[in-house]
Amino acid sequence: MSMGERQAGKPEVVRGLAGVVADTTSVSVVDEASGQLLYRGYPVPDLAGSRSFEEVAYLIWQGELPSHEQLAELSNAERSARELPRPVAEALRSLPLSCHPMDVVRTAVSLLGAHATTTGEGPEADRHRAISLWAKLPTVVAAEQRRRRGLAPVPPDPSLGFTENFFHMCQGEMPSAEVLQALEVSLVLYAEHGFNASTFAARVVTSTGSDLYSAVTAAVGALKGPLHGGANEAVMAFFDNLGGPEEVGPWLDRELAAGAKVMGFGHRVYKSGDSRVPTMRRYLEALAASTEEGRRLLAVADRLEQAMRERKGLYPNLDYPTGPAYHLMGFDTPTFTPIFVVSRVTGWTAHVMEQKANNALIRPLSAYVGPGRRALPGRH
Ligand code: COA
Repeated sequence: MSMGERQAGKPEVVRGLAGVVADTTSVSVVDEASGQLLYRGYPVPDLAGSRSFEEVAYLIWQGELPSHEQLAELSNAERSARELPRPVAEALRSLPLSCHPMDVVRTAVSLLGAHATTTGEGPEADRHRAISLWAKLPTVVAAEQRRRRGLAPVPPDPSLGFTENFFHMCQGEMPSAEVLQALEVSLVLYAEHGFNASTFAARVVTSTGSDLYSAVTAAVGALKGPLHGGANEAVMAFFDNLGGPEEVGPWLDRELAAGAKVMGFGHRVYKSGDSRVPTMRRYLEALAASTEEGRRLLAVADRLEQAMRERKGLYPNLDYPTGPAYHLMGFDTPTFTPIFVVSRVTGWTAHVMEQKANNALIRPLSAYVGPGRRALPGRH
């Protein structure tokens, strides 16, 4: 918006900030030439399957892939920070089962902030806070899935890597190699994505001079919505309800006629396909091939994908393959978006640190459309 326009009282309103470049970042970008998402310059499909989630977390925070020693140091710090402070665990257990697990995760981040022991300002202190949160969130998410199943929590096991430990705490058993790979890849794919709504929420909070825990609490709240991270849970509604591919067409007709949005399709940035989908799709196929339920999910997914392309010109986003993949891994549907948090906390906290390093208060203007100036009526 030019000053001239503002003075003339005709500000250009960019609803949803679509297409607005709000600041610079060096964390990730969707590469224009290839359409691929790059973390610190590396194509995400190349990282997925070839680098562990811990290595990718280091890359996102530090800007470079870790050496062997750097990785060991990060991994040791993570393994030793997984336990929740007792008052936090007790408070989370007291929350009603009627709330969503994302409410529990959001509350957990806030409580962890209140009980945090890291003091001081600066990037080093924030790196400690980020690693501490990253280490504890799987413990929160796993305990919550088990609480909803009426089961006691499984304590973290420091002999296990991040993803294996997370799965073990959730399910009480070790994952198969296939499940472990698929879960690990999903965490790598979900870790970071520019100025998406939750990351932007974290940056807005940070820009006021507030702390990392407050920023991540806000980010979890933003991720919960079905237009954002909540979509990976929401896609299961139709995967659960559609018995087979033959039911897809009539169902889609009804949905589109009612003006409904089909969860897992469309994206603010990708307009001709989400570059992360083909990678996740390969791991979903591997999970799906061996069971009847898996083959049904895949058949429904394929038919719906084709129908959405033909009727709306829309492509699936990452939440489309991760929803059924998490289902086939044995996670409960309300745990899907919390798993997204376990991954995206890396990107959020990298952005918090980037925002702090070169801060400008984020405070846009609005175009007023309410009543004009008027006199206050007298009291009767
Ligand atoms: N199902 C049906 N129609 C959709 C759609 C979907 N999933 N996504 C977009 N559209 C349609 C809109 O209705 C709109 O049509 P119109 O121009 O006739 O009004 C057009 O496509 C543009 O959509 P819009 O919502 O303005 O795009 P956006 O960039 O603001 O939204 C999303 C992006 C992600 C919010 C949107 O695609 C969406 O709601 N998807 C479903 C939720 C989801 O999967 N979220 C996860 C994102 S990673």
